[in-house]
Amino acid sequence: MGNGGSISVKEATKVYDPDGAKVLALDRCSLEIGPGEFSVVVGPSGCGKTTLLNAIAGFHELTAGEILLDGQTLSSPGKPAKPGSDRIVVFQNGALFPWMTILENVAFGPLAQKKMTVPEAREKALKTLETMGLTLIAQDYPGQISSGMRRRAEIARAMMCEPKVLLLDEPFRALDALTKIVAHQFLMEVYDAQKPTVFFITHDLDEAIFLASKVYVMTTRPASIKKILDVTLPRPRDYRLLASLEYQRLKAECQDAVREEALKAFSAGEREM
Ligand SMILES: Nc1ncnc2c1ncn2[C@@H]1O[C@H](COP(=O)(O)OP(=O)(O)OP(=O)(O)O)[C@@H](O)[C@H]1O
Ligand SMILES: [Mg+2]
Repeated sequence: MGNGGSISVKEATKVYDPDGAKVLALDRCSLEIGPGEFSVVVGPSGCGKTTLLNAIAGFHELTAGEILLDGQTLSSPGKPAKPGSDRIVVFQNGALFPWMTILENVAFGPLAQKKMTVPEAREKALKTLETMGLTLIAQDYPGQISSGMRRRAEIARAMMCEPKVLLLDEPFRALDALTKIVAHQFLMEVYDAQKPTVFFITHDLDEAIFLASKVYVMTTRPASIKKILDVTLPRPRDYRLLASLEYQRLKAECQDAVREEALKAFSAGEREM
């Protein structure tokens, strides 16, 4: 897309409940995500991944530090959080309107923002649904389709707004292994077509390496970045890559780093990964 989308996280610190329990979720966490990079974040449960995603989305204010999008401050102490249509979040538990058809759901964003006419939004929604392999269910309601299709429809809805940044918090967590493979393939296709900057959280290391340009391994809470893995596997990606030596090497490296942090979290009394 070539419309920017670089994210700079500079010493981001987040303390929840500062006057009470004082939960330190992020501790001077820094990372630089380039425009169009597919960044995947892994780390022990409860380490602060969603906290970081929510700060980038503008859902809450940082306690210290700063987050910038293309050099403009998104989040810093004293700056009220401000979500924007340049950063779209796809949540873990789904958020399609059950009373609208899939086509209506997907067309909703640009219509609500008055950025397109109804025929324009409809045409674009149909094209986006086609890219996600969902043409046949365009007139169905969310309750009538499988959970894998619902997740894909949500990504289609997010992509309709042509966001600079797509923020995904374990979007495929509830899918079975085969449905996940299909969802990955379609996500890769829309990513290759639009090249938004992606911030994708997962606990699934195969998913992380298959999708990522870079994998960020977070430390146990309070989160900072422990390790960055460059995933230079060629795109478009194909599942046969999983058998390659380079893939196996990356997975072992990632596993070692995550396991070390998960064990620390476990011994500190946090939940396991
Ligand atoms: N609104 C809140 N108020 C107080 N504490 C919170 C709040 N949200 C999160 N926390 C705490 O901050 C820490 C980080 O939470 P966060 O949800 O960011 O972790 P996570 O890495 O996304 O975990 P998971 O992998 O389980 O989704 C946890 O200890 C959590 O209990
Ligand atoms: Mg989370």
